[in-house]
Amino acid sequence: MTELRVRVGDFHLGPREKEAIYEVLDKGRLSEGPKVREFERQWAAYIGTRHCVATSSGTGALITALAAIKHAKGLGAGRKVLTTPLTYIATSSAISAVGWEPVYVDVDPRTFVITPENVEAHLSGAPDPERYALILPVHLMGYAADMGRLLEIGRRYGIPVAEDSAQAHGTLLEGGKAGSLGYFGAFSFYIAHNIQAGEMGAITTNDAELARLARKLKAQGRACDCPVCVRAEGRCPRLNGRQGDDDYDPRFTHELIGYNFKTMEFQAALGLTQLERADWIVAQRQRNARYLTERLAAYAEILQLPPYSEAVSYLAYPLVIRRPELISRKRLRRELERLGIETRPLFGCIPTQQPAYGHLKAEYEGRLPNADYLGRHAFYVGCHQYLQEADLAYMVEAFGRILGRLG
Ligand SMILES: Cc1ncc(COP(=O)(O)O)c(C=O)c1O
Repeated sequence: MTELRVRVGDFHLGPREKEAIYEVLDKGRLSEGPKVREFERQWAAYIGTRHCVATSSGTGALITALAAIKHAKGLGAGRKVLTTPLTYIATSSAISAVGWEPVYVDVDPRTFVITPENVEAHLSGAPDPERYALILPVHLMGYAADMGRLLEIGRRYGIPVAEDSAQAHGTLLEGGKAGSLGYFGAFSFYIAHNIQAGEMGAITTNDAELARLARKLKAQGRACDCPVCVRAEGRCPRLNGRQGDDDYDPRFTHELIGYNFKTMEFQAALGLTQLERADWIVAQRQRNARYLTERLAAYAEILQLPPYSEAVSYLAYPLVIRRPELISRKRLRRELERLGIETRPLFGCIPTQQPAYGHLKAEYEGRLPNADYLGRHAFYVGCHQYLQEADLAYMVEAFGRILGRLG
């Protein structure tokens, strides 16, 4: 097996990261506490929302936020969520996990996100628009859905719009960063993402009630979310209101049926070390994406290159095979990997290509042509912040060696 020279992602455990881990160990508190609160404050400030609720994963953030909407709006099971078929499965599985039904519209073939036109066409033809609880676009690979127009459509139909921003840390839209414009933003700080924490997630929102419910639901619906209880130290000041009832403990009194999606101090501490360098991380990834798009332009007949924009925080460098009759994705990926360049297929179209949603296959067959095509022919390589110019030049040379032969 060839040694990989260019990975899709990388993580450097440098002195700053080690110091952050040792600081947590020295403090002696491992479960969610002051570091997590600090991460929430700083992430809210970075994204530009009033509230942030950290969770143990991006999937946990989505499930918690959707469950919070159910409580906030008094909605039951069986509602629909209009979303994208081209995403990591978590977007759909979170919708299913709260007892709602994902409904898919097709994506833009160049930016991979659902379009306002497709959302509008779907809702205007739907017999039951009132059953839709939410519109949930995903800002895939750093490319943002058009939130301005989606929010306008949502307002007209009375449907809130949220953002799965797991892959768009720092992407800029008109009006703010990805994750700051919708009802909520959901983030993942999984190791493969731009701000890395190993495993962690967060909900961002300007809605105080949604944040309050999310804080409760991620901690088994416990009665009290005051700072003392959240830190699980000292005596809850609200106990005073229940004086005389010395059996009452708000940490172990549960007002809602919830989950355990609390996170750990280590993850928050690591996340903070990455957040310190967020601007550099985004800028390096943009520099690398621009370099590749400029140098690979000669192969644009065979490969669809990602459009370059300084507004995009690139998760990776996505490519689409335009001429599968000349070279298949399988062959190109195999040849790149043989030259030490790691690749990943872009996500399979959920209702037609993912076995977990196989029960929807017949219903959607032929209705999502762009997502279907991308699910079969798109893949990505790395453009992360640790790549040097020599690595990028090597990538360009490798593509040239493989594609140059095709004539
Ligand atoms: C678009 C999207 N949504 C949600 C998630 C789920 O995040 P996590 O893996 O942290 O649960 C991911 C993870 O990669 C993702 O890419």
